Amino acid sequence: GGDPANLPPNVADWSRYLGPGVDAAPYGMPSEHEAQVVRRSVEWLTASRESSINFTPLHELDGIITPNGLCFERHHGGVAEMNPTDYRLMINGLVDKPLIFTLEDLKRFPRVNRLYFLECAANSGMEWRGAQLNGCQFTHGMVHCVMYTGVPLKYLLEEAGLKTNAKWIMPEGGDAAGMNRSVPIEKALDDCIVAFKMNGEALRPEQGYPARLVVPGWEGNMWVKWLRRIEVGDMPWHAREETSKYTDLLEGGKARRFTWVMDAKSVITSPSPQAPILHAKGATVLTGLAWSGNGRITRVDVTLDGGKNWHEARIDGPSLPKALHRFYFEFDWDGSELLLQSRAHDETGYVQPTKDALRAVRGTNSIYHNNGIQTWYVKADGGVENVEIS
Ligand code: MTE
Ligand code: CO
Repeated sequence: GGDPANLPPNVADWSRYLGPGVDAAPYGMPSEHEAQVVRRSVEWLTASRESSINFTPLHELDGIITPNGLCFERHHGGVAEMNPTDYRLMINGLVDKPLIFTLEDLKRFPRVNRLYFLECAANSGMEWRGAQLNGCQFTHGMVHCVMYTGVPLKYLLEEAGLKTNAKWIMPEGGDAAGMNRSVPIEKALDDCIVAFKMNGEALRPEQGYPARLVVPGWEGNMWVKWLRRIEVGDMPWHAREETSKYTDLLEGGKARRFTWVMDAKSVITSPSPQAPILHAKGATVLTGLAWSGNGRITRVDVTLDGGKNWHEARIDGPSLPKALHRFYFEFDWDGSELLLQSRAHDETGYVQPTKDALRAVRGTNSIYHNNGIQTWYVKADGGVENVEIS
Protein backbone atom coordinates (compact mmCIF):
# COMPACT_ATOMS: atom_id res chain seq x y z
CA GLY A 1 0.00 0.00 0.00
CA GLY A 2 0.90 3.63 0.31
CA ASP A 3 0.53 6.75 -1.82
CA PRO A 4 3.09 6.54 -4.70
CA ALA A 5 3.59 10.33 -4.40
CA ASN A 6 5.20 9.75 -0.99
CA LEU A 7 7.29 6.73 -1.99
CA PRO A 8 10.79 6.58 -3.51
CA PRO A 9 11.99 8.00 -5.82
CA ASN A 10 9.55 10.88 -5.07
CA VAL A 11 10.08 13.37 -2.26
CA ALA A 12 7.42 12.67 0.35
CA ASP A 13 4.91 15.33 1.31
CA TRP A 14 6.29 15.72 4.84
CA SER A 15 9.75 16.47 3.49
CA ARG A 16 8.57 19.54 1.55
CA TYR A 17 7.15 21.78 4.30
CA LEU A 18 8.07 22.95 7.79
CA GLY A 19 6.21 21.07 10.50
CA PRO A 20 4.62 22.43 13.70
CA GLY A 21 7.02 23.92 16.26
CA VAL A 22 7.60 22.86 19.87
CA ASP A 23 4.70 24.85 21.31
CA ALA A 24 2.09 23.05 19.20
CA ALA A 25 1.64 20.33 21.84
CA PRO A 26 2.85 21.19 25.38
CA TYR A 27 1.55 17.81 26.50
CA GLY A 28 2.24 15.42 23.63
CA MET A 29 -0.27 13.05 22.10
CA PRO A 30 0.23 9.91 19.96
CA SER A 31 0.32 10.18 16.15
CA GLU A 32 -3.10 10.65 14.58
CA HIS A 33 -2.37 7.43 12.68
CA GLU A 34 -2.54 5.51 15.98
CA ALA A 35 -6.13 6.53 16.74
CA GLN A 36 -7.24 2.88 16.94
CA VAL A 37 -4.99 2.32 19.98
CA VAL A 38 -7.56 2.99 22.69
CA ARG A 39 -9.21 1.40 25.71
CA ARG A 40 -12.50 -0.25 24.80
CA SER A 41 -15.51 -1.42 26.75
CA VAL A 42 -17.89 -4.28 25.98
CA GLU A 43 -21.47 -3.16 25.44
CA TRP A 44 -23.21 -5.99 27.25
CA LEU A 45 -20.88 -5.74 30.24
CA THR A 46 -21.84 -3.16 32.82
CA ALA A 47 -20.90 0.30 31.59
CA SER A 48 -22.88 2.41 34.06
CA ARG A 49 -21.18 4.74 36.47
CA GLU A 50 -22.08 2.36 39.34
CA SER A 51 -19.91 -0.31 37.74
CA SER A 52 -17.77 0.25 34.70
CA ILE A 53 -14.83 -1.45 33.06
CA ASN A 54 -12.72 -0.93 29.97
CA PHE A 55 -9.78 -2.88 28.62
CA THR A 56 -6.10 -2.28 27.80
CA PRO A 57 -5.41 -2.68 24.03
CA LEU A 58 -2.76 -5.35 24.62
CA HIS A 59 -2.68 -6.34 20.93
CA GLU A 60 -1.36 -2.86 20.00
CA LEU A 61 1.39 -2.64 22.64
CA ASP A 62 4.92 -3.96 22.96
CA GLY A 63 7.51 -4.11 25.72
CA ILE A 64 6.31 -4.34 29.32
CA ILE A 65 5.21 -0.79 30.23
CA THR A 66 1.59 0.26 29.74
CA PRO A 67 1.23 3.91 28.66
CA ASN A 68 -0.76 5.82 31.29
CA GLY A 69 -3.62 6.72 28.96
CA LEU A 70 -4.13 3.07 27.98
CA CYS A 71 -4.29 1.45 31.44
CA PHE A 72 -7.64 -0.34 31.76
CA GLU A 73 -10.06 1.23 34.25
CA ARG A 74 -12.38 -0.43 36.74
CA HIS A 75 -14.61 1.80 38.82
CA HIS A 76 -17.32 0.91 41.34
CA GLY A 77 -18.55 4.49 41.58
CA GLY A 78 -17.00 6.36 38.69
CA VAL A 79 -13.82 8.45 38.85
CA ALA A 80 -13.54 10.53 42.03
CA GLU A 81 -12.49 14.02 41.03
CA MET A 82 -10.21 14.76 43.95
CA ASN A 83 -8.54 18.04 44.60
CA PRO A 84 -4.92 17.47 45.75
CA THR A 85 -4.97 20.34 48.24
CA ASP A 86 -8.02 18.82 49.96
CA TYR A 87 -6.54 15.32 49.85
CA ARG A 88 -6.12 13.63 53.23
CA LEU A 89 -5.04 10.13 54.20
CA MET A 90 -6.14 9.05 57.68
CA ILE A 91 -4.65 6.15 59.62
CA ASN A 92 -6.76 5.05 62.59
CA GLY A 93 -7.72 1.98 64.63
CA LEU A 94 -5.14 -0.11 66.48
CA VAL A 95 -2.35 2.49 66.37
CA ASP A 96 -0.57 4.48 69.08
CA LYS A 97 -1.43 7.80 67.46
CA PRO A 98 -4.04 8.20 64.72
CA LEU A 99 -2.66 10.42 61.94
CA ILE A 100 -3.89 12.46 59.01
CA PHE A 101 -1.44 13.08 56.15
CA THR A 102 -1.67 15.66 53.40
CA LEU A 103 -0.19 14.84 49.98
CA GLU A 104 2.77 17.07 50.84
CA ASP A 105 3.28 15.10 54.07
CA LEU A 106 3.46 11.86 52.06
CA LYS A 107 6.10 13.40 49.81
CA ARG A 108 8.40 13.99 52.80
CA PHE A 109 8.85 10.25 53.43
CA PRO A 110 11.58 8.29 51.64
CA ARG A 111 10.10 6.94 48.43
CA VAL A 112 10.69 3.97 46.13
CA ASN A 113 10.24 3.18 42.42
CA ARG A 114 8.77 -0.21 41.51
CA LEU A 115 7.43 -1.73 38.32
CA TYR A 116 4.38 -3.95 38.95
CA PHE A 117 1.49 -5.44 37.01
CA LEU A 118 -2.04 -4.90 38.28
CA GLU A 119 -4.53 -7.56 37.20
CA CYS A 120 -8.24 -7.51 38.07
CA ALA A 121 -9.27 -10.87 39.56
CA ALA A 122 -12.10 -10.86 36.98
CA ASN A 123 -9.67 -10.76 34.03
CA SER A 124 -10.65 -13.62 31.64
CA GLY A 125 -13.71 -14.15 33.86
CA MET A 126 -16.04 -14.18 30.84
CA GLU A 127 -14.13 -17.18 29.46
CA TRP A 128 -14.76 -19.62 32.35
CA ARG A 129 -17.48 -21.53 30.51
CA GLY A 130 -15.97 -21.35 27.04
CA ALA A 131 -14.39 -19.09 24.43
CA GLN A 132 -16.43 -15.92 24.22
CA LEU A 133 -14.75 -12.62 23.38
CA ASN A 134 -12.81 -12.16 20.16
CA GLY A 135 -9.64 -10.34 21.12
CA CYS A 136 -6.97 -10.36 23.80
CA GLN A 137 -8.00 -6.79 24.66
CA PHE A 138 -11.25 -8.27 25.98
CA THR A 139 -10.10 -11.71 27.19
CA HIS A 140 -6.92 -10.47 28.93
CA GLY A 141 -7.01 -6.66 28.92
CA MET A 142 -7.77 -6.16 32.62
CA VAL A 143 -4.05 -5.93 33.27
CA HIS A 144 -1.52 -3.11 33.14
CA CYS A 145 2.07 -2.59 34.25
CA VAL A 146 3.59 0.75 35.21
CA MET A 147 6.43 2.13 37.32
CA TYR A 148 5.00 3.39 40.61
CA THR A 149 6.65 6.01 42.76
CA GLY A 150 5.47 6.24 46.34
CA VAL A 151 6.04 5.68 50.04
CA PRO A 152 6.31 2.15 51.44
CA LEU A 153 3.14 1.67 53.53
CA LYS A 154 5.37 0.31 56.29
CA TYR A 155 6.81 3.80 56.93
CA LEU A 156 3.34 5.31 57.38
CA LEU A 157 2.18 2.51 59.69
CA GLU A 158 5.38 2.82 61.72
CA GLU A 159 4.81 6.56 62.03
CA ALA A 160 1.37 5.87 63.52
CA GLY A 161 2.77 3.01 65.65
CA LEU A 162 1.10 -0.40 65.40
CA LYS A 163 -0.45 -1.91 68.54
CA THR A 164 0.67 -5.48 69.28
CA ASN A 165 -2.76 -6.87 68.26
CA ALA A 166 -2.66 -5.14 64.85
CA LYS A 167 -3.23 -7.99 62.38
CA TRP A 168 -5.15 -6.48 59.45
CA ILE A 169 -5.55 -3.18 57.65
CA MET A 170 -8.59 -1.88 55.80
CA PRO A 171 -7.70 0.56 53.01
CA GLU A 172 -10.74 2.61 51.95
CA GLY A 173 -11.33 4.71 48.83
CA GLY A 174 -12.58 8.28 48.69
CA ASP A 175 -14.80 7.54 45.67
CA ALA A 176 -18.59 7.33 45.83
CA ALA A 177 -18.22 3.54 46.29
CA GLY A 178 -16.00 4.03 49.35
CA MET A 179 -14.44 0.78 48.22
CA ASN A 180 -12.60 -1.15 50.92
CA ARG A 181 -10.77 -4.44 51.44
CA SER A 182 -9.05 -6.28 54.28
CA VAL A 183 -5.30 -6.78 53.83
CA PRO A 184 -3.22 -8.89 56.28
CA ILE A 185 -0.60 -6.86 58.17
CA GLU A 186 2.27 -9.05 56.87
CA LYS A 187 1.53 -7.94 53.31
CA ALA A 188 1.03 -4.31 54.39
CA LEU A 189 4.49 -4.30 55.99
CA ASP A 190 6.13 -6.27 53.19
CA ASP A 191 5.84 -4.56 49.79
CA CYS A 192 2.71 -2.35 49.73
CA ILE A 193 3.20 1.24 48.57
CA VAL A 194 1.10 4.38 48.77
CA ALA A 195 1.81 5.59 45.23
CA PHE A 196 1.37 9.09 43.83
CA LYS A 197 3.19 8.70 40.51
CA MET A 198 2.88 6.27 37.60
CA ASN A 199 5.49 6.16 34.84
CA GLY A 200 7.03 9.31 36.30
CA GLU A 201 4.00 11.60 36.23
CA ALA A 202 1.10 12.07 38.63
CA LEU A 203 -1.39 9.20 38.77
CA ARG A 204 -4.16 9.66 36.23
CA PRO A 205 -7.57 10.49 37.80
CA GLU A 206 -8.89 7.11 36.63
CA GLN A 207 -6.02 5.33 38.40
CA GLY A 208 -6.71 6.98 41.77
CA TYR A 209 -5.26 10.52 41.67
CA PRO A 210 -3.72 11.75 43.85
CA ALA A 211 -2.81 8.51 45.70
CA ARG A 212 -3.58 4.79 45.50
CA LEU A 213 -2.52 1.65 47.30
CA VAL A 214 -0.18 -0.74 45.44
CA VAL A 215 -0.49 -4.38 46.56
CA PRO A 216 2.11 -6.18 44.39
CA GLY A 217 1.10 -9.52 42.87
CA TRP A 218 -2.35 -9.47 44.51
CA GLU A 219 -5.74 -9.02 42.87
CA GLY A 220 -6.42 -5.54 41.51
CA ASN A 221 -9.48 -5.03 43.70
CA MET A 222 -7.22 -4.59 46.73
CA TRP A 223 -5.29 -1.72 45.10
CA VAL A 224 -7.62 0.91 46.56
CA LYS A 225 -7.73 4.10 44.49
CA TRP A 226 -8.31 7.64 45.80
CA LEU A 227 -7.03 6.22 49.11
CA ARG A 228 -8.52 8.23 52.00
CA ARG A 229 -8.25 6.00 55.06
CA ILE A 230 -6.45 2.98 56.43
CA GLU A 231 -7.98 1.41 59.52
CA VAL A 232 -5.86 -1.01 61.52
CA GLY A 233 -7.68 -3.92 63.18
CA ASP A 234 -7.28 -7.38 64.66
CA MET A 235 -9.70 -9.18 62.29
CA PRO A 236 -10.74 -8.93 58.64
CA TRP A 237 -13.78 -6.71 58.00
CA HIS A 238 -15.65 -9.04 55.62
CA ALA A 239 -16.70 -6.10 53.48
CA ARG A 240 -18.85 -6.45 50.36
CA GLU A 241 -15.83 -6.75 48.09
CA GLU A 242 -14.56 -9.83 49.96
CA THR A 243 -17.85 -11.64 50.63
CA SER A 244 -20.43 -11.21 47.86
CA LYS A 245 -17.61 -10.34 45.43
CA TYR A 246 -14.02 -11.56 45.02
CA THR A 247 -14.74 -15.01 46.45
CA ASP A 248 -14.70 -18.06 44.18
CA LEU A 249 -17.82 -20.26 44.26
CA LEU A 250 -16.83 -23.92 43.81
CA GLU A 251 -18.99 -26.77 42.41
CA GLY A 252 -20.23 -28.02 45.79
CA GLY A 253 -21.48 -24.58 46.86
CA LYS A 254 -18.44 -23.81 49.01
CA ALA A 255 -16.57 -20.60 48.21
CA ARG A 256 -12.83 -20.00 48.31
CA ARG A 257 -12.12 -16.71 50.05
CA PHE A 258 -9.05 -14.50 50.47
CA THR A 259 -7.69 -15.70 47.12
CA TRP A 260 -5.35 -12.76 46.86
CA VAL A 261 -2.40 -13.84 44.72
CA MET A 262 -2.66 -13.68 40.93
CA ASP A 263 -1.17 -16.96 39.70
CA ALA A 264 1.13 -17.19 36.67
CA LYS A 265 -0.57 -16.44 33.37
CA SER A 266 0.31 -15.56 29.79
CA VAL A 267 -1.32 -14.59 26.51
CA ILE A 268 -0.17 -14.24 22.92
CA THR A 269 -0.98 -10.64 21.97
CA SER A 270 -0.02 -11.00 18.27
CA PRO A 271 -1.17 -12.83 16.25
CA SER A 272 -4.57 -12.56 17.97
CA PRO A 273 -8.13 -11.85 16.80
CA GLN A 274 -7.56 -8.07 16.69
CA ALA A 275 -4.05 -8.54 15.29
CA PRO A 276 -4.41 -11.00 12.37
CA ILE A 277 -1.46 -11.96 10.15
CA LEU A 278 -1.63 -9.49 7.29
CA HIS A 279 1.53 -10.55 5.46
CA ALA A 280 2.21 -13.54 3.21
CA LYS A 281 3.78 -16.77 4.49
CA GLY A 282 7.35 -16.61 5.70
CA ALA A 283 9.01 -14.70 8.54
CA THR A 284 6.47 -14.15 11.34
CA VAL A 285 6.87 -12.64 14.79
CA LEU A 286 4.71 -14.08 17.55
CA THR A 287 4.69 -12.04 20.76
CA GLY A 288 2.93 -11.97 24.09
CA LEU A 289 2.95 -11.21 27.80
CA ALA A 290 3.48 -13.36 30.89
CA TRP A 291 3.24 -12.48 34.57
CA SER A 292 3.04 -14.01 38.04
CA GLY A 293 1.97 -12.64 41.40
CA ASN A 294 4.50 -14.99 42.96
CA GLY A 295 7.63 -13.47 41.44
CA ARG A 296 9.52 -13.66 38.17
CA ILE A 297 8.57 -15.56 35.02
CA THR A 298 11.37 -18.04 34.33
CA ARG A 299 10.15 -19.51 31.04
CA VAL A 300 7.37 -19.25 28.47
CA ASP A 301 6.58 -22.10 26.07
CA VAL A 302 4.59 -21.61 22.89
CA THR A 303 2.93 -24.10 20.56
CA LEU A 304 1.76 -23.56 17.00
CA ASP A 305 -0.16 -26.86 16.79
CA GLY A 306 -2.43 -26.86 19.81
CA GLY A 307 0.07 -28.45 22.20
CA LYS A 308 1.60 -31.27 20.12
CA ASN A 309 4.99 -29.53 20.02
CA TRP A 310 6.17 -26.86 22.47
CA HIS A 311 9.01 -24.40 21.88
CA GLU A 312 10.74 -22.14 24.39
CA ALA A 313 9.94 -18.49 23.68
CA ARG A 314 12.54 -15.71 24.01
CA ILE A 315 11.90 -13.37 26.94
CA ASP A 316 13.20 -9.89 26.11
CA GLY A 317 13.43 -6.84 28.34
CA PRO A 318 13.70 -6.64 32.13
CA SER A 319 12.59 -9.70 34.12
CA LEU A 320 11.23 -8.19 37.33
CA PRO A 321 9.18 -9.90 40.05
CA LYS A 322 5.41 -9.28 39.86
CA ALA A 323 5.80 -7.37 36.60
CA LEU A 324 4.82 -8.13 33.01
CA HIS A 325 7.38 -10.05 30.95
CA ARG A 326 7.53 -9.74 27.15
CA PHE A 327 8.17 -12.87 25.07
CA TYR A 328 8.75 -13.51 21.36
CA PHE A 329 8.82 -16.53 19.10
CA GLU A 330 9.99 -15.99 15.54
CA PHE A 331 8.96 -18.64 13.02
CA ASP A 332 8.42 -19.26 9.32
CA TRP A 333 4.69 -19.46 8.70
CA ASP A 334 3.95 -21.97 5.94
CA GLY A 335 0.51 -20.45 5.39
CA SER A 336 -1.33 -23.34 7.07
CA GLU A 337 -3.81 -23.15 9.95
CA LEU A 338 -2.32 -22.83 13.43
CA LEU A 339 -3.51 -23.34 17.02
CA LEU A 340 -1.45 -20.93 19.10
CA GLN A 341 -0.99 -21.24 22.86
CA SER A 342 1.47 -19.94 25.43
CA ARG A 343 2.31 -21.41 28.84
CA ALA A 344 4.09 -19.49 31.61
CA HIS A 345 6.39 -20.88 34.30
CA ASP A 346 7.28 -18.83 37.38
CA GLU A 347 10.17 -18.95 39.83
CA THR A 348 8.21 -21.06 42.33
CA GLY A 349 8.06 -23.87 39.72
CA TYR A 350 4.35 -23.23 39.07
CA VAL A 351 3.21 -23.91 35.50
CA GLN A 352 0.18 -22.17 33.98
CA PRO A 353 -2.65 -24.76 33.76
CA THR A 354 -5.00 -25.57 30.90
CA LYS A 355 -8.54 -24.22 31.24
CA ASP A 356 -9.83 -27.78 31.62
CA ALA A 357 -7.37 -28.52 34.44
CA LEU A 358 -8.54 -25.34 36.16
CA ARG A 359 -12.22 -26.27 35.75
CA ALA A 360 -11.54 -29.74 37.19
CA VAL A 361 -10.59 -28.16 40.53
CA ARG A 362 -12.67 -24.95 40.51
CA GLY A 363 -15.79 -25.81 38.48
CA THR A 364 -17.43 -23.16 36.33
CA ASN A 365 -19.38 -21.04 38.84
CA SER A 366 -16.51 -18.68 39.42
CA ILE A 367 -15.77 -15.42 37.69
CA TYR A 368 -12.41 -14.78 39.26
CA HIS A 369 -8.87 -16.12 38.89
CA ASN A 370 -9.07 -17.68 35.44
CA ASN A 371 -5.40 -18.07 34.48
CA GLY A 372 -5.92 -20.96 32.05
CA ILE A 373 -4.02 -21.33 28.77
CA GLN A 374 -5.57 -19.32 25.90
CA THR A 375 -5.92 -20.76 22.38
CA TRP A 376 -5.99 -18.68 19.16
CA TYR A 377 -6.98 -20.35 15.90
CA VAL A 378 -5.11 -18.85 12.93
CA LYS A 379 -6.85 -19.48 9.62
CA ALA A 380 -5.10 -19.83 6.26
CA ASP A 381 -6.07 -16.25 5.36
CA GLY A 382 -4.31 -15.00 8.51
CA GLY A 383 -7.53 -14.21 10.40
CA VAL A 384 -7.55 -15.27 14.06
CA GLU A 385 -10.34 -16.52 16.36
CA ASN A 386 -10.76 -17.25 20.05
CA VAL A 387 -11.34 -21.00 20.42
CA GLU A 388 -10.97 -23.80 22.94
CA ILE A 389 -9.54 -27.23 22.27
CA SER A 390 -9.50 -30.15 24.69
N1 MTE B 1 -10.56 1.56 44.38
C1 MTE B 1 -11.64 2.34 44.55
N2 MTE B 1 -11.59 3.29 45.49
N3 MTE B 1 -12.76 2.17 43.80
C2 MTE B 1 -12.83 1.19 42.83
O1 MTE B 1 -13.85 1.08 42.16
N4 MTE B 1 -11.70 -0.73 41.75
C3 MTE B 1 -10.78 -1.81 42.08
C4 MTE B 1 -9.39 -1.27 42.40
N5 MTE B 1 -9.45 -0.17 43.31
C5 MTE B 1 -11.71 0.33 42.65
C6 MTE B 1 -10.56 0.58 43.45
C7 MTE B 1 -10.66 -2.85 41.06
S1 MTE B 1 -11.86 -4.05 41.01
C8 MTE B 1 -9.55 -2.95 40.27
S2 MTE B 1 -9.34 -4.23 39.21
C9 MTE B 1 -8.52 -1.89 40.28
O2 MTE B 1 -8.79 -0.86 41.20
C10 MTE B 1 -8.40 -1.31 38.88
O3 MTE B 1 -7.39 -0.34 38.84
P1 MTE B 1 -7.26 0.59 37.56
O4 MTE B 1 -8.59 1.27 37.35
O5 MTE B 1 -6.14 1.50 37.85
O6 MTE B 1 -6.95 -0.32 36.40
CO1 CO C 1 -11.06 -5.57 39.65
